[in-house]
Amino acid sequence: MARTDLSERARLLHKLRAAQNRLRVRRTITRRDGVFVEIDGHRLINFCSDDYLGLSQQFGIVAATQDSISRDGVGVTAAPLLYGHHAVHEALEREIAAWLGYPSGLLFGSGYIANLAVLQAFLLEADDLCVQDRLNHPSLIDASRLAGCRLRHYPHLDAEGAMRLLKNEPDGAAILASNGVFHMDGDIAPLRALSLAARVQRALMYVDDTHGTGILGPEGRGCVAEAGLSIAEIPLQMVNLSKALGSFGAVVVGNEELIQHLAETARPYVHATSLPPALASAALTSLKSVRHDEWRRDKLRELTALFRSEAHRHGLELTASEHPIQPLICGDETTTIAMATAMEQEGYLVAAIRPPSVSEGASRLRITLTALHTSQQVQLLAAALSRAYDSVTGQWRQ
Ligand SMILES: Cc1ncc(COP(=O)(O)O)c(C=O)c1O
Repeated sequence: MARTDLSERARLLHKLRAAQNRLRVRRTITRRDGVFVEIDGHRLINFCSDDYLGLSQQFGIVAATQDSISRDGVGVTAAPLLYGHHAVHEALEREIAAWLGYPSGLLFGSGYIANLAVLQAFLLEADDLCVQDRLNHPSLIDASRLAGCRLRHYPHLDAEGAMRLLKNEPDGAAILASNGVFHMDGDIAPLRALSLAARVQRALMYVDDTHGTGILGPEGRGCVAEAGLSIAEIPLQMVNLSKALGSFGAVVVGNEELIQHLAETARPYVHATSLPPALASAALTSLKSVRHDEWRRDKLRELTALFRSEAHRHGLELTASEHPIQPLICGDETTTIAMATAMEQEGYLVAAIRPPSVSEGASRLRITLTALHTSQQVQLLAAALSRAYDSVTGQWRQ
């Protein structure tokens, strides 16, 4: 058998993706200023960013980052166990854990790394089991592969399905892992029912709350708090610092034993350079705004409701999401790309999402709202979407 030529394989796969309208193209942003971005010399209103609370460029947070860089430099240049663990990392872990009512926290370089770390560190044996929602983030799926455990998927949001899978394979350690908010749909996991299934089947429940933190629950404490749950029901959860908190990295919170085990054994933690302290400073500062600027969440809720009612008025069918992630399902790849292109021509940046990020036939525009948008921008967005839909599909509605 001849060795496969990887360049040739890459070229063929690229050609196939092009034929399927699934090429992924990076656009270069030359300037970002609040909700505006500049691309190819054009100023567009950005409806793609997960900067939900508008904190990533907030003055106080930028100033805290600059102060930290002036004091400590940029890179920490060492892994946490090799003297790369800085006081500001520790302060951030403590503050996030205390905020959510957990005894301990551990800071990771990103949400993706945190998910890899959790499953790899706890699911050690080949007959250990990870049960996951079918629409979980790819990092959770990759994490099970890294762990080398058994991976089973239940239908989206189906807690009974999760219970059945756990019951069918009762041996070995098990983790039931779910997104809190689903990243492409904006819908929310049934955490109470899932945590009950996990407890009955003696599995550990882990929630990736990347898109719930800062947005849902009292003080923005996320999906778990919103559902009235705590460490007793959800022993481990991941707080992502790169979305509503406007910084970078992630903190996993849990009890002391679980967090200590992660710190000592999670390979993506032990063998990676610590997060730059300035980004931890940024997150510590933005946490104050996340907790206390209730107006940001109020505004986000108002804008989300406004977008939904305006879209409805224009005859656009949205999904049931009440979250600032508002998908507009277009179906096939060609329509989705044409819609995104038409929107860009009107001055709006919206993300075209296609398989494999979503299922076949479920390509969509993923629209995200932030507290920095204005009501007028949101109203005009809905009108522009309606015009784009009409021109792309050739349909004209009253
Ligand atoms: C649900 C979810 N989990 C994890 C991640 C990965 O997080 P990060 O971008 O911080 O690596 C993302 C995407 O950003 C996500 O949407």
